Formats: sequence, C-alpha cells, structure tokens
Amino acid sequence: MALKSTNPTQTESWKKLQSHFDEIKAKHLKDLFKNDSDRAEKLTIKWKDFYVDFSKNRITNKTIDLLIGLAEEMDLKEAISKYLQGDIINATESRAVLHTALRAPKHEEIFVDGVNVIPEVHEVKNKIKNFTNAVVKGDHKGFTGKSITDIVNIGIGGSDLGPAMVVESLQYYTNHLNTHFVSNVDGDHYAEVVKKLNPETTLFVIVSKTFTTQETLSNANSIRAWFLESQPKEAVSKHFVAVSTNIKSVKEFGIDEENIFPMKEWVGGRFSLWSAVGLSISLSVGYDNFERLLEGAYQMDEHFKQADFKENIPVISALLTVWYSNFFRSESEVVIPYTQYLNQFATYLQQGIMESNGKSTDRDGNKVNYETGTLIWGEPGTNSQHAFFQLIHQGTKLIPADFIGFVESLHGNKEHHNKLMSNYFAQTEALMNGKTEAEVLEEFSGQSLSESEIKKLLPFKIFEGNKPTTSILIKKLTPTSLGQLIAMYEHKIFVQGVIWNIYSYDQFGVELGKQLAKTILEELKDSSSKEGHDTSTQNLIDYYKNNSSF
Ligand code: F6P
Repeated sequence: MALKSTNPTQTESWKKLQSHFDEIKAKHLKDLFKNDSDRAEKLTIKWKDFYVDFSKNRITNKTIDLLIGLAEEMDLKEAISKYLQGDIINATESRAVLHTALRAPKHEEIFVDGVNVIPEVHEVKNKIKNFTNAVVKGDHKGFTGKSITDIVNIGIGGSDLGPAMVVESLQYYTNHLNTHFVSNVDGDHYAEVVKKLNPETTLFVIVSKTFTTQETLSNANSIRAWFLESQPKEAVSKHFVAVSTNIKSVKEFGIDEENIFPMKEWVGGRFSLWSAVGLSISLSVGYDNFERLLEGAYQMDEHFKQADFKENIPVISALLTVWYSNFFRSESEVVIPYTQYLNQFATYLQQGIMESNGKSTDRDGNKVNYETGTLIWGEPGTNSQHAFFQLIHQGTKLIPADFIGFVESLHGNKEHHNKLMSNYFAQTEALMNGKTEAEVLEEFSGQSLSESEIKKLLPFKIFEGNKPTTSILIKKLTPTSLGQLIAMYEHKIFVQGVIWNIYSYDQFGVELGKQLAKTILEELKDSSSKEGHDTSTQNLIDYYKNNSSF
C-alpha cells in the first residue's frame, strides 16, 4: 500500500506549532536551561553506546509533544510499518524501499510481490563472504598467478559515495588491500588512479545498479582498455567483477556470470551500501566487519521500529529538522564529526538527504506551499572550526548543527583526544551561550584599552549565542556503531519525507541534465551540429570547441 497524502500545514498540530513557535522564537537557550534544571536529562536519549543530547535545541518539552502530535497526525506509525514491511512506498517508480531487508537476520520474513526476499539477501551475502575471503587470503589469484593487492571501485552516486565513505571511516579496521575509487567521468580521475596500479594484482569492481550510467560505463571501458594494453583478454575474468541489477548488460560488457554480484530493484542507489554495492567495503575491512556494519544498522532499524517517538533518535532528529526548516525558516544543517575518519560523512549524507528530500511536488502531485529538504554540509572538527565556524557563530543565518563525537579514540592518544573533545564540548557551549555585552566588558577590564577603543570594539565581540546543536556522543567508532549511525540518518530522511508529504525515493531531478548532456556530447564531437541552444550555452560550446587543442 502506498503512503497516505496529507498536507502537513493543514493539520491541527501544524497550527499549534505555529502559535507555539511565536511564543518560543525569542527565548534564549540559556534561559531555557536556567528555568529547568532537568532539561539536559529530559532531552537526552540513551540507547546502546549512543548518548544523544537534544537539549541544546530551541525547544521545550511542549515543542517535542507538538512535533510528535504532528508525526501522529501524518500517520508516521503506519508509514514506518509500510516502509519496513516492503509496501510500494516509492510509488512514482512502483517500488518497495527495502535497504532494511539487507541487514535483517535470516529468520525474518519480508515479502515483495508475495516472495520472501530474505533468503536471496543471504545468498548474495554468502557470495560476498566467499569472494572476500578468497581475495583477502590470496586464494583468488590474478591471471598471472599473483595475489590481489589493490581494489578499484568504479561507480558514481550511491554506487560510490557509500562504499567510499565507509572504507575511509573504517580504515583503522582495514586489511592489506588498498582500495581506490573512480567515479568522475573526468578522464583525469581514472588516469591518476590507474597510473599507480599493477594490472596483474588489481581487482576492478564495477558498480552500477542500472549498468547504464554514462560515467561508470565510460570509466569501466577506459580502464578495461588500459588493462588490455598489458594483459590478454582471458585475464579479464580474474580482474573484473560487477555489481548490478542489469545482468544482461553486465554480461554484454564481458563479465562472466559467476563474477556478477546481483542487487534488487528495491534497493535505492543512495541506500545501497548494505547490498553487494558494499563489496569493496567487505574486501577492504573483511567480511566479518562488513557483517558487523550490517548488524549495527539492523539494531538501529529495531530501535526505529520499536521505540516510542519520544525516545526514538531518528524520529526526534527528523522532527527537529522540520521545526527549524518550516518554523524558524533555516535552510541548511551542518554535520560536524569530531573524528578525521568521518571526513566524507557529510558528502555521503548530501546524496542521501538532498537527492531524497529535494522535492517540491507533494504525494498528490501538487506543488508544495511549504519548505522541504535541507541543504546539508559539513567537515570534521576541529578543522571546520578554522574554516566556517565564524559564520555559524556570528553570521545572520540559523544553522542547526549535529556534533558527532566518540568517547574513545582508536589509536588511544588520550592527550590528543582530550584536546579534540574539549573543542567539541566547547563549541556546543559557545554556540549556545554566546557572549554578552557584560561578559565582553569584563574581558576588556583586564586589558589596557581606552574608553573609545572599548566602545568601538564592543559590538564586534558580542556573540548572540542561541545557536542550536545536537550532541551525538558514541562510545567508539566501530563497524557496528558506524552502521547504527548511518541507519539513523537513513530513517531520519524517511521521517522527514513522511512529514513533508513527498516521495523521498525517486530522483527525477537528476535526469534532465543527463539528457541534455547526451545531445551536447554529439555536438562536441561533430563540428557542424547545432541544437538551437540559448546564446549563452551556444557561446560556451563554441568557445570550448574553438579553443580545444584535441
Ligand atoms: O545520480 C542519480 C543516480 O541515479 C543515483 O541515484 C545513483 O546512486 C547513481 O545515479 C548511480 O546509478 P547506478 O548505480 O545505476 O550507476
């Protein structure tokens, strides 16, 4: 059954939230803390190794109650059941959305078109396991009998970002294999990667759900041509494997059936790292760690399914996005992991969040009259403090921030870790409290400044504060906790889509540019071809053609 359609702004809860917003918008977080000594305790969710403190958000208990009221009016409970049981909730593409099935244990049953999909999920996992073990142990040899040393994942979008982010995040757990990623159709990308590689010891994993994506097929073809410059054709089967739903096209590309790792239509590209798309993750950190990643995600699925909305991390987190986007009119959210390992986390989330909820048509096909989607960005702390934090502290925009930190560091340098985490805590405190005029004056009093100098400097030194943050503190970065964290954001995306009454699982917006690029490509190849572009585009094309040296 498809999801219901209701305009959220027409609900009773929305109206109540609007008047509640008018009451609360001018309140300062500092005062909310002063007036409620249990605030931090009440607005923190503890779950497994997660400690999630929502208290530095511009909310009260009433806000949470009203937001939950909205979720209930939007039938979130029923929507969650439909999502997890495999209903066709991606109605515009007539598909179920079942990345959760990929991490479900063997005994579960989830039906798509009357067929339980779990046995097949585990069959593919077994194939990933056997292949991973053979490559890692050196039993799978290259054509010339040498063991594999390097893996190259060739894919783009969800067929790149998820595996690339996880491989980097879990590099502490990696084995002897070096993993590389080629995604951009920019020929310089693959050229820079292959120039360091020995074709005799490299395994290429071509990942494309559709196996029609221009970037991936171009890179796969060029890399195969590079490979064949030094290796015979018979060597291809030892060095190229593929992950796809499109078995026919993979075979036509020249990959043997036994080297194909299948995936299903109901796995969305941006949620596919749990499927065979995660093969490069499994190769990089070993199958057992891949399994732990899946297990962590499954645990978060269970939490999402079972916890009351008030105690439900993805639900509360999603409702806060709605609160800030639709009432405070904030446009972006920033994610700051206090670990260098999560360097690519925000980039990964950009596809998940913006490709899913960057929609302006509601589930009835009408143009929405309220904000949807959020701009998502971020970089690890402390680096980001020295880059863009100024704007968050003293700029004109309200930018809610997720701070992600870990109690333990992996290499165990306590001195560094204390420094790192003191910054995490200090930033959330500074963003909340700001600095008042009195505090600035107090600071000046110890310095030898004249009255007029103080007067001149004062306005620039004041920080308003009242900047919202959510502190996510996790015991340690492990495959399990990473799985939990990623799944948390996946479910947050789903909840937002339900509240905004949009379809989160299609991505038609990326198609138009792709189509136009095809036409223009023909024009670039053929000097006489012109397709009636606007003058700006035509001039750019002409300039490119006239000045290109090849
Ligand atoms: O950018 C659009 C998109 O369809 C993404 O959703 C997807 O992750 C990516 O292209 C790659 O698609 P494929 O895995 O089919 O090559």
